[in-house]
Order: sequence, then structure tokens, then C-alpha cells
Amino acid sequence: MILPRISTRLLSPELLANFASDVRAGLGKAGQKELSSQYLYDEIGSALFDVICLLPEYGLTQADARLLRRFSPEIISRLPRPVIIAELGSGSGQKTKWLLEELARRQAVHYYPIDISGAALDRCHQELSQVECVSIQAFKRAYLEGLLEVAARRNGDERLLVLFLGSTIGNFTRVAGESFLGEVRKILRPGDALLLSSDLEKPISQLLLAYDDPAGVTAAFNKNLLARINRELDADFRVDQFAHEVRWDDAERRIEMHLRSLCEQTVDIAGSEMKVTFRSGETIWTESSLRFNPAELTGMGERAGYRCEAQWLDEDWPFAQSLFFAV
Ligand SMILES: C[S@@+](CC[C@H](N)C(=O)[O-])C[C@H]1O[C@@H](n2cnc3c(N)ncnc32)[C@H](O)[C@@H]1O
Repeated sequence: MILPRISTRLLSPELLANFASDVRAGLGKAGQKELSSQYLYDEIGSALFDVICLLPEYGLTQADARLLRRFSPEIISRLPRPVIIAELGSGSGQKTKWLLEELARRQAVHYYPIDISGAALDRCHQELSQVECVSIQAFKRAYLEGLLEVAARRNGDERLLVLFLGSTIGNFTRVAGESFLGEVRKILRPGDALLLSSDLEKPISQLLLAYDDPAGVTAAFNKNLLARINRELDADFRVDQFAHEVRWDDAERRIEMHLRSLCEQTVDIAGSEMKVTFRSGETIWTESSLRFNPAELTGMGERAGYRCEAQWLDEDWPFAQSLFFAV
């Protein structure tokens, strides 16, 4: 079994500089203040996300898992061989084990999780190193950077299966999501595969509850972003002076997570060399999460350079697993 646990507790100077400048740009905006959702996932954020995945209100993880558990044999049977697996934004990789176990029945498995959260990769290694005949090499990288490294390492006859699970595609805008799939396609060869999981439209009340659970886990996940800025950028956010807020944007068909300032306040963020003033009620937009319909997903994939080989749907919590092949 390959690989070392990855040491990740502190950001490298380069990542810290990017974090500082992204915070400066996002909170310095004249209009809607924003922070990129990628920064939700430090060690604490990744642990909180794992708890969110256990919440009954957050049905999408269970739906994703149900489809993978049930259809892994069919998914794997449709893949060319030999195939290696790269997973974008693997998180703790728990749901991936059904695919790895199924693939291990026919060949030695090389699995490459890619995630910017070292804590998530540590968990992923713990979870999946139990699967027999699987070698794991983790990449603490941004999606495309990591995928380029994996693609550069493969042998001539190896095909690549890229996993993009958990409806993480929903964190992009629709236009950016499609263009991201196109960027992934440019790294692939014809015949390589992409398994994309995506949450589908459903009643708004159900979605609002999924992102604002009664136990307050998602609120803690959201607010941890301010606590992270305090820890890593030497800021003085009073986290209790911000409230977790979830909205549904009907035109964009997306859930938005915000942090609402409960009073007029000024925050000093030394690491970003800025002071930022919030009006009472003003929000920081921290995450978007789009909802899709099955035909839309097929269309997105086709425009990005794939053909849709098959699509599996969960009916209890409308959710889609789409298998694409690069053309
Ligand atoms: C919504 S979680 C999904 C985790 C897992 N795939 C699942 O299905 O439960 C998104 C994951 O993507 C990672 N991530 C977010 N932005 C990223 C980026 N730009 N590059 C690499 N990983 C990223 C986060 O650290 C997190 O682990």
C-alpha cells in the first residue's frame, strides 16, 4: 500500500498568500462581499463536512452512496481496461470504496484522490487503505493541477476514470461548471471516462433544511470560515456576531449560503492588510449549490466534449450519477 499520510495542518507560504489575497479581493468588493467555498475545507471544516454527510436532512450524500453501492458493478463493467481512477475533491472518499472494491475484482487498482484539504486526504487514506489490492497516491492540489499530474504518470495503455462526486459540480456557476468539464476533457484522451454525480431539483423546503439543519452543523461549517481567517490570517472576526443564512435563488436554481453581520462592525484582517466594515444585515456569500435536471446534465457533458454512456437516478432523494466518455 503506498502512501504516507500527508502533513497538512498549516498552509504553505504560497497557499497562505493566495488565501490572503483571495480574502482581500472577496471582502474588498464594493457590492456583494464573497469568500470562495474552497476555503471552507480546512481541518475543522473537512471534519464538519463529514458530519454533515451523516445528517438525515442532507440526503444527497446518502443518495450518492446508494447509487454507487447499487450500480458499481454496472459502472465498472462499462469501463475499458486497464483503468486507473482519479477523484477530484475526494474529501474522505467514503463512497468511493464500492467502485474500488468492484474494480479490484478484475485488476490491481491505482487510485489518485485530489483535494486541496490535507485533512480530507488523510481521512481518505485511512478509509480506503482498508480496501484490498488498492494502491493510493494522494495529491494535495487544486482539481486540474492534480489531474494533470495523474494524467502525466499513466502508462500508455491505461485509461483514466475521473470521479467528481458529491454534486461538487454544483458549487460552480452553470457556465463555469460546463467550462470546467471542458477543461477536464482537455486533459483526457478519447475513451477516458468521467463519473459525475449531481443533485437534482426537489422541493425548496427540503433543500433549505439540508443546508440549515436543526443541529446547527452546517451553520458551524459556514462560520468556521471566519474562525479560519482569524486563525490563519490573524483577523479579529467576532464569529458570534455573524449568523448562518441559507437562500434559494429561483432564477439560478441554486442554494446560497451566506454569513449575515448582526451589527455594524469593522474587522481587522492583518494577514490580508485590510480592515473591512460590515453594515448591520450585510452578508458574505460563501457557497452556491446548483440543482440540475437529468437532460441538462447530459447536454452539459455533450457540449464539453463527452458522450453520455449511462445515467442512474435515485428516486428517494432525486440525484443523478452520469457516466460520460471523452469523444
Ligand atoms: C462538497 S465536498 C465533496 C467531498 C466528496 N467528494 C463527497 O462526495 O462527499 C468538496 C471537496 O472538494 C474539495 N475542494 C474544493 N475546492 C477544491 C479545489 N479547487 N481543488 C481541489 N479540491 C477542492 C474540498 O476540500 C472538499 O473535500
